[in-house]
Amino acid sequence: MLGLQWGDEGKGKILDVMAGEADWVFRAQGGNNAGHTVEIGREKYVLHLVPSGILRSGVSCLIAGGTVVDPAGLVSEIQGLHERGIRTKGRLYLSSQAHLVLPQHRAIDRSSEKKRGKERIGTTGRGIGPAYADKAARVGLRAGELALSPAELSRRIRERLRIHNQAARPQGWEAVAPTATLRQIEQAAKVLRPYLCDGVALAHHAVETGKKILIEGAQGTFLDVDHGTYPYVTSSHCTAGGACTGTGVPPTAVRRVVGVLKAYTTRVGSGPFVTEDGTLGHLLHGMGREFGSTTGRARRCGWFDAVLVRRAVRLNGVTELAMTNLDGLDGLEKIPVCTGYRLKGKVLREPPVEVSDWERCRPVYRVFPGWCEPTTEARRWRDLPPKARAYLAALSKMVGAPLGILSVGAGREQTFRHG
Ligand code: GDP
Ligand code: IMO
Ligand code: MG
Repeated sequence: MLGLQWGDEGKGKILDVMAGEADWVFRAQGGNNAGHTVEIGREKYVLHLVPSGILRSGVSCLIAGGTVVDPAGLVSEIQGLHERGIRTKGRLYLSSQAHLVLPQHRAIDRSSEKKRGKERIGTTGRGIGPAYADKAARVGLRAGELALSPAELSRRIRERLRIHNQAARPQGWEAVAPTATLRQIEQAAKVLRPYLCDGVALAHHAVETGKKILIEGAQGTFLDVDHGTYPYVTSSHCTAGGACTGTGVPPTAVRRVVGVLKAYTTRVGSGPFVTEDGTLGHLLHGMGREFGSTTGRARRCGWFDAVLVRRAVRLNGVTELAMTNLDGLDGLEKIPVCTGYRLKGKVLREPPVEVSDWERCRPVYRVFPGWCEPTTEARRWRDLPPKARAYLAALSKMVGAPLGILSVGAGREQTFRHG
């Protein structure tokens, strides 16, 4: 299950519904830049690193090797779950292969954004990019190292901090205090050690014993470091391939690919957004929706972009769509949908490669009539107004994937299958 737009498509909500039938939920990539919201009755949970499946008592969860883990952040998330009566012992596992996000990564993230000025990416400031950079440079520290003797762990951290602090002044980064950092990581290591495992062996065992595994994507297709609006992306692979490399689940074991998407589009942070529309943003923000789950930032809003989603469906091999937030469009008389990009007198059906071209594209719209009535009470496909069904059926045809799940509100019960 993964996002087909720029993140925040409602993955947490759809995951929670699908997890009712799963044995395992794996997080494959990303870190605590993610914020996945699940609303169950009056309770609202926002998960950052722990798979959303933890909220279903019969489900076990793995934070797999492709993720980057902020040890202190994970500890506070686990403690928050315990305070709300959610058990993690014996049902949450952390792969020893996952890379650690350390305070120097957050320091570099902050200073790089400051330095970029107007061209800043608008990161979540969680140190994600610098942690993945260290991983690619083969100098990262992995979660398994939290199980080393305190002396050896401390030696390895001190060495990295020495290198960071030496480079800090010339690079314009903040320096990081070794003593406080060491104390923080040693404390986190004590809490996290019992959760450590060989994530790949765990995944293979689950596959081979016929367990139902749900891989929870974080971020979204156009934030993927290879396939997104580079450089305005995150630093992991948020597409279907990343689900396999991040967990060790082989591609041949994957049966379904559920693509989650909103009935419109949102994005947090900078970068091209062809269908962005201030009036729609104003309307949605006025309804109290579309504020970031991790940073609280107001999300940029725009119309549904079929050029993007068609690309995402093909990239991920989507077998069914899970369309959320249909209710966000309930009050509108006219609903534009982008069917092509106009650039230099031509109409493109594929997004351009260069971000500067992408920024210059103008949307070609097909306008649908709105249904102008609430959909939030719908519990079956046929409860939806005919115009809403026509809108959804047209989107599905344009992007080339069948509708699977529909969502008309944040609650668990506001979800149903197509047909
Ligand atoms: P994620 O990162 O993909 O899990 O999405 P977020 O949780 O960051 O943002 C999605 C927001 O939309 C959350 O506040 C959800 O509770 C909410 N949500 C999900 N599906 C629906 C829906 O169908 N209707 C409404 N009104 N809200 C929804
Ligand atoms: P979920 O899983 C939406 C965005 C940031 C920024 C860019 C890079 O909740 O859908 P990073 O901190 O990753 O280096 O920031 O990616 N971003 C997200 N946007 N949802 C997310 O996660 C995101 N995770 C990162 O806003 O534009
Ligand atoms: Mg989110």
